Amino acid sequence: MTGVSQDEQYMRQALRLAALGLYSTYPNPAVGCVFVRDGRVIGSGYHVAAGGPHAEIVALESAHGDVRGATCYVSLEPCSHYGRTPPCAERLVREGIKRCVVACVDPNPKVRGQGIAMLERAGVEVLVGVLADKARYLNRAFFKSIVTGVPYVTVKVGMSLDARTALVDGSSKWITSPRSRSHVQKLRARCDAIITGSGTVSADDPRLDVRYEELPPKVRARIPRERIRSPLKVVLDSRARLDPGRYRLFSTGQVIWCTGEVEGFHGEERLSEHVLRVGIPLNEAGHIPFTAVLERLGGMGIRHALVEAGGGLTGSLIDSGLADELVVFAAPKILGPDTRPAFRTCNCTSMAKAIGYRLRKVREIGDDVKLVYELTRD
Ligand SMILES: NC(=O)c1ccc[n+]([C@@H]2O[C@H](COP(=O)([O-])OP(=O)(O)OC[C@H]3O[C@@H](n4cnc5c(N)ncnc54)[C@H](OP(=O)(O)O)[C@@H]3O)[C@@H](O)[C@H]2O)c1
Repeated sequence: MTGVSQDEQYMRQALRLAALGLYSTYPNPAVGCVFVRDGRVIGSGYHVAAGGPHAEIVALESAHGDVRGATCYVSLEPCSHYGRTPPCAERLVREGIKRCVVACVDPNPKVRGQGIAMLERAGVEVLVGVLADKARYLNRAFFKSIVTGVPYVTVKVGMSLDARTALVDGSSKWITSPRSRSHVQKLRARCDAIITGSGTVSADDPRLDVRYEELPPKVRARIPRERIRSPLKVVLDSRARLDPGRYRLFSTGQVIWCTGEVEGFHGEERLSEHVLRVGIPLNEAGHIPFTAVLERLGGMGIRHALVEAGGGLTGSLIDSGLADELVVFAAPKILGPDTRPAFRTCNCTSMAKAIGYRLRKVREIGDDVKLVYELTRD
């Protein structure tokens, strides 16, 4: 086996560990770490929660504090600053590691290359960029939000093969299978906020919470219940048509009810322990502008927003170029041309102008297919 493929093999292991942190490290990135000496893994671990030890320290403890002469594989550059914990780069130097393989540089302005520089200055051999694309993808929400201040937006769509989400009478339960829906629970558990529209709330009265017992069994086997968070719920209701007392989602967790500045309502008002109403000036189309919502969420520190809405909101979000990722669950059903479309976007006038997405992942879930697409920005 060549050196490079061995590096990839251990980095893959670090990335698999990092992924376990995606449910609980907010607002920190998910990071995994593996120590290898004489061709043997001597310690491994991942960052679980902000304020707790970083991946390198968890892995060091699992190696019983002895990593002298080892290679450290870490999925994100070791930190170089005093935050809630002391700098990991300094600790790695002190523990006498020989080599450090880093998947990608930490875009956090407080680190951005300084952890790597610290290691190199101390004579540690550093290799950067092993499985960098996979590492950046894992922390795509952290990367986008720390650089732009705006959350990464994932749009989830459960649809038929002909891209329909509901029948003519509006009934939509259920197009996709229970297994696909349990993957939706997993998406929810990994994000910080769920955005929906007034149409979905009035049609389906969804709860939009994370139900531990509905998560995929593999997730439940690895992630204890207490680590699963409930994302903030955000409802876009331009004309304030919904009555929060009538719908289930307003009675649990934290909800931001975004309405237009209608009927003299301005600013914000706490309506109950669960609901904050926020007035946002409407755009020319008479809707709540997504940019204003995303800026507000970014200002609250939200890194990853999941949109679960109907064709109306989903369509205009895609049109506005703000849907960073589409996660489509396609069921092998045909519902017909008069049923509700999954994407009520504007009509594209030339192929060259079509909004483009790149296929990132395909996964069979029983008879359904899960497709993950990333927005192409060129
Ligand atoms: N299959 C799935 O994955 C899935 C997921 C969720 C929902 N659904 C289905 O979708 C159906 C509801 O679809 P829908 O299109 O009526 O509802 P929707 O997309 O949830 O909400 C659309 C409404 O959101 C409001 N809105 C606020 N800001 C907006 C903006 N910037 N752009 C566009 N709309 C904005 C608009 O009403 P106002 O401007 O008046 O507020 C609009 O009518 C239901 O049958 C539900 O079952 C399917």
